[in-house]
Amino acid sequence: MSESPRSNGPKIIAIANQKGGVGKTTTAINLGAALAEEGREVLVVDLDPQGNASTGLGVNVADREKSTYDLLLDDAPLADVVRETDVEHLWIAPATTDLSSADIELVGNERRSSLLHDALRRPEITTYGFDHVLIDCPPSLNLLTVNAMVAAHSVLVPLQSEFFALEGLSQLMLTLREVRQTANPGLRIEGVVLTMFDVRNNLSTQVEEDARDALGDLVFQTRVPRNVRISEAPSFAQPVLEYDTASKGSNAYRALAREMLERGVALTA
Ligand SMILES: Nc1ncnc2c1ncn2[C@@H]1O[C@H](COP(=O)(O)OP(=O)(O)OP(=O)(O)O)[C@@H](O)[C@H]1O
Ligand SMILES: [Mg+2]
Repeated sequence: MSESPRSNGPKIIAIANQKGGVGKTTTAINLGAALAEEGREVLVVDLDPQGNASTGLGVNVADREKSTYDLLLDDAPLADVVRETDVEHLWIAPATTDLSSADIELVGNERRSSLLHDALRRPEITTYGFDHVLIDCPPSLNLLTVNAMVAAHSVLVPLQSEFFALEGLSQLMLTLREVRQTANPGLRIEGVVLTMFDVRNNLSTQVEEDARDALGDLVFQTRVPRNVRISEAPSFAQPVLEYDTASKGSNAYRALAREMLERGVALTA
């Protein structure tokens, strides 16, 4: 499972933080759109029963016949689940609320932690030519997030520039280390990205300072600003890069994509 990314298919990145509302879904959609803009083929896997990434990319609830639930629990073919979005080069595997019971349904399954890994390593995935798979995790360190970490080459952590932002990180790192010790020794940290950053707010700069002190180079130089266009875009079922392509939010996600691509191999810490 520790194969180097890209030589054996797409680079798989789990976007995780058990804290709710920190920008996981926003980052999955817009980092995905930014990579797609660079001409990369990108699949967003919605692993959150809330299905926000699916809605944000224009998949109506009524229109989700097969979802990541079927991929995990029913061995559904990728072709039944993966679909194109209106954004060129950007694909989505949508989620439905079915996924909320997956945790319980999976308890007795001996492959319970590696179902997503197995689904994303099926030979049929090569037919899509994906360069990147971004997994939007739920706000929990449950079995779904563990599936994402087992499936992934690396974990990208959005960190909201607010009080207590760093508090949950140790628990997240603990889970990451557990996954490394068991199912996925090659799992790396792609990086930590500061989200909803407000340069005029002392708290934002304080969180940044603390994060850089504690995590060093793991923290991306790019900060995603608090930007109203970012929060408006999902109600138009579009990435902000399409909704308002010249906005600060769009440019921040473009910068994040470039920084990530330039960094190349993710850090090991
Ligand atoms: N940079 C930003 N500027 C303004 N609003 C933002 C920004 N990033 C995210 N938001 C808004 O904050 C809210 C939470 O963001 P998002 O849904 O991406 O977080 P999440 O971590 O996926 O949440 P959950 O844990 O519930 O899945 C959303 O309403 C989103 O539109
Ligand atoms: Mg979300």
